[in-house]
Amino acid sequence: MPSSQTKREVHANDAAIRNHARQATCFATLPGRQPGQVRDVALTADTSQQPERRRSLLRWLPAHRMFMRVFLVFGSLLLAMTALYGMLIVPLQQDSLLKVMYSQADIVSRSIIQACSEAMITDDFGFIVEHNLQVLQNNRNIRSVLITPKRGTIIRIAPEGWAMQDSAPQAEPDKTLENTTYGIVSNADGTTHYRYSTPIRFSGLSWGSIEINFTTSEYDANTREMYKQLLFISILVVLAILPVGYFFALWLIRPIADISQAASRVAQGDLDAHVDIARQDEIGQLSRSFNQMVDALQESRTRVRFYNQELEQKVAERTHELDELNRTLDQRVRDEISKRKEQETLLIHQSRLAAMGEMIGAIAHQWRQPLNALSLVMQNIRMQHRSGRLTEQSMARMQEKSEQLVQRMSSTIDDFRDFFKPDKHAVTFNLAQVIRSSAGIMDGVFNNHCIALSIDCDDDIEVFGIPGEFSQVILNLLSNAKDAVQDTHQRSPRIQVHASRDSDRVRICVDDNGGGIAPEVMDRIYEPYFTTKNDGKGSGIGLYMSKMIVENNMHGRLEASNTDEGTRFTIELDTPGRNSETASEQVA
Ligand SMILES: Nc1ncnc2c1ncn2[C@@H]1O[C@H](COP(=O)(O)OP(=O)(O)OP(=O)(O)O)[C@@H](O)[C@H]1O
Ligand SMILES: [Mg+2]
Repeated sequence: MPSSQTKREVHANDAAIRNHARQATCFATLPGRQPGQVRDVALTADTSQQPERRRSLLRWLPAHRMFMRVFLVFGSLLLAMTALYGMLIVPLQQDSLLKVMYSQADIVSRSIIQACSEAMITDDFGFIVEHNLQVLQNNRNIRSVLITPKRGTIIRIAPEGWAMQDSAPQAEPDKTLENTTYGIVSNADGTTHYRYSTPIRFSGLSWGSIEINFTTSEYDANTREMYKQLLFISILVVLAILPVGYFFALWLIRPIADISQAASRVAQGDLDAHVDIARQDEIGQLSRSFNQMVDALQESRTRVRFYNQELEQKVAERTHELDELNRTLDQRVRDEISKRKEQETLLIHQSRLAAMGEMIGAIAHQWRQPLNALSLVMQNIRMQHRSGRLTEQSMARMQEKSEQLVQRMSSTIDDFRDFFKPDKHAVTFNLAQVIRSSAGIMDGVFNNHCIALSIDCDDDIEVFGIPGEFSQVILNLLSNAKDAVQDTHQRSPRIQVHASRDSDRVRICVDDNGGGIAPEVMDRIYEPYFTTKNDGKGSGIGLYMSKMIVENNMHGRLEASNTDEGTRFTIELDTPGRNSETASEQVA
């Protein structure tokens, strides 16, 4: 459940976002706007979040790992320093205590030696004992005094009594006769005492040694006291660490945490997040840089929004244009297709008209001879009638000849009518027949211009298509070949048609010796209305139509190439078994 505090933050964020939207609009309408404007708005929004920063200090407790680390490091450091202090100071104190005991032992030993020197030389044991008992009485911390001569009787004086014993001869020289020794020694019962031993010399000669044993109770008490003080200081330090360490860590970490929190808000898209740290150190500098960075981000976001809006607007405009285009596209495509169809129909029509013109010329040519002959027959009839030589017999002969001529002319018309029949159904037809009937139409023209035409085609080759259309192709190729040999004034003009078949292809070549096609126009000969023939002799649609018929309707190929003497047009078609079904569908 979001707290009321969080809700307030959310509302503040919403308000800030609305603010941005307004800024974006301002930016769009006022190009000369200064960057400072954004900063002003941001700072206003920031002040509304001040109470959040003053939240309970408890929020710095363990959840903040960095805070805890600083706090722990600081505390550990202080504790370590206290421990170090203890480790250094206690031995020093103990050392000075030992020094005090040493100087006390030194003074006491000197005073005993000085006081008892005569008695020691004269072996006055009574005086020695009495004097030392007095010393022991005055110094309660002396446990015993041991006077050991080099030779003679050892005297041991303690508060509880004294004793004497003869010194045993020693194998090795006693070191206590040479040097002063001191230090704490352990007793058999686990207690300790301080032992001081020094040599006794008279006039430079070693007499013996004196050993004084002190109790260490005072030393132990002092040591215990020192440890108590150390403990006390440690507790004080620990107690001081808690508030001092807390405030130190707080002072160090809080601005960093503020910056981190603001950075998180910025990362979540809230560019109103600013930090308000009025410090002159590096952290203050960091907070100012952070605020500047957020301002820069806010400004670039405003710019990006502005550009986005502009982009969206442009996209919407383009989309609208595209929609409009799409709406009319169908219609346009339909219009274009129907235009194309009209054009094609027109072309086909033109092509048929051209072919018809060609054939009317051919018919006229075919008829010229029989008409001449018919005219001669009629002249003969007239002349014989005038001269009175017209007999029944000659009249019958000339009538028969006239009928033959008329029959021939009529059959020529039938040939051409068949040729123009609108047989739009693809069928399997005999290639040689169609080639020959097409060439037959041109016969008269070829004879007239002494053009030698040879047809070499097996009678059993069959192809699949519309025979009328295919005749038109052959007629176009023959007509072009005729024009070529005529235009180049060949001495022995020649046209050859050769058809062959291999396993699945039929190949028809139409060769002429008309000099060939100029290379620069070779790529253009199939373009509609392209012609090199002047004075309206050519319309430029013969090859275009032929290619359409061969490649679109019959699924073959029509190609032109130059030979040594002229041009070769090659038609390649599939044999009927291979594609008759497909072709039939397409033609239908
Ligand atoms: N056998 C050929 N030899 C030389 N040039 C040729 C031959 N066949 C075609 N061409 C060239 O190709 C051009 C285009 O021929 P196409 O049959 O399409 O048109 P055309 O013959 O000029 O006119 P038409 O529409 O009357 O046939 C011709 O003008 C001619 O330049
Ligand atoms: Mg032509």
